[in-house]
Amino acid sequence: MPLKGHPIGPPCRVDREQGFFVPERAGVNDMDKTWNPRTRAVHAGTRRSQYGEVSEAIFLTQGFVYDSAEQAEARFIEAGPDEFIYARYGNPTVAMFEERIAALEGAEDAFATASGMAAVSGALTAMLRAGDHVVSARALFGSCLYVLEEILTRYGVDVTFVDGTDLDQWQAALRPDTKAVFFESLSNPTLQVVDIAGVSELAHKVGATVVVDNVFATPVWSNAIAQGADVVIYSATKHIDGQGRALGGVILGTKQFIRKTVEPYMKHTGGSMSPFTAWVMLKGLETLDLRVRAQTSNATALAQALAGHGKLEQVIYPGLPDHRQHALVQRQMGQGGTVLSIDIKGGKAAAFRFLNAIQVGVISNNLGDAKTILTHPATTTHQRLPDDQKTALGITPGLVRISVGIEDESDLVEDILNALDKA
Ligand SMILES: Cc1ncc(COP(=O)(O)O)c(C=O)c1O
Repeated sequence: MPLKGHPIGPPCRVDREQGFFVPERAGVNDMDKTWNPRTRAVHAGTRRSQYGEVSEAIFLTQGFVYDSAEQAEARFIEAGPDEFIYARYGNPTVAMFEERIAALEGAEDAFATASGMAAVSGALTAMLRAGDHVVSARALFGSCLYVLEEILTRYGVDVTFVDGTDLDQWQAALRPDTKAVFFESLSNPTLQVVDIAGVSELAHKVGATVVVDNVFATPVWSNAIAQGADVVIYSATKHIDGQGRALGGVILGTKQFIRKTVEPYMKHTGGSMSPFTAWVMLKGLETLDLRVRAQTSNATALAQALAGHGKLEQVIYPGLPDHRQHALVQRQMGQGGTVLSIDIKGGKAAAFRFLNAIQVGVISNNLGDAKTILTHPATTTHQRLPDDQKTALGITPGLVRISVGIEDESDLVEDILNALDKA
């Protein structure tokens, strides 16, 4: 019986001799490349079994059965496309997620990981050796900073930190032995913007690999690879899931880097994504664009409503014309994204009064979610930092990060303004 395959991409391949499931590898093929990103996010990478399921199948299996001992031996020597061995090495549902996000980002390949931090630490550790030099922006999420400052240095990697917004500092820190540069394109939580094209140009002159944590910028507003990055990382826990269900991450880059550098490291150290998580993330990708646009629209409205508010020292939102890097944001993202930070007059006590008065949003520490999430970085995500570093990074006692959700705009604005009255 002829089987229905992908409606646009290549059809499902059927092994007539085996008589059952042989999925078609529908990765970043020529067909996918002609689709626009919103179409790729829904369809790219789809594999269908003989049942022609609409929603992607979850292959919740740790391993795969071989027809013979010879086949097992051959697969361990070299696994072909759609030949799987063990879930830590790869899995059909995970492969669908990897191919879909690679197509969305215009990357040659991707490796899905158990969390965003497995992606950050995996990408860096897989490529670096004792004696290598790394230049990193200092404004980083607490765990990213820990990996750079505490872990890599423990294994003999020399790390220089710079103000990521200052191209002169990048230029001065780069050396002939610099192997990698690392930065968050939009930093957590103070929303500093790093010039991806500018830093990439400087880094490539010394042959360094540019690794960008693009979580805050999102795949919708930022295509870091097109702007010069070599490796792009997402915590899929954030906008890609976007509904607070699962931890996950992904590393994107060239086929050579992903399959020859990242895959051997990840598959032997155990940071791979589970098939169930990959399925959650595939479903998340389908609605990513809609959610991120709605969140950005709400974030813009909220930032505008809060600008100049008497209870605030400042509103930090890259989409506001008074953001000090507004021109760069426009060039790099075109939009201000889904997160804003506000610095409440009266420090920690006022910030806590504000948070405790919130009704629509929730106090938590994730971001990129359909629900508005409010975080006090100084006492949670960045608590570990000494006070002088917090001050240097602008993480003041009154700072509250607001990851804006998809709720009704007027409910959200009203709630935040009411809570500010109580701050
Ligand atoms: C910028 C950034 N990178 C990486 C991560 C880590 O992601 P995960 O929590 O999925 O490990 C986070 C999490 O908050 C983050 O904000």
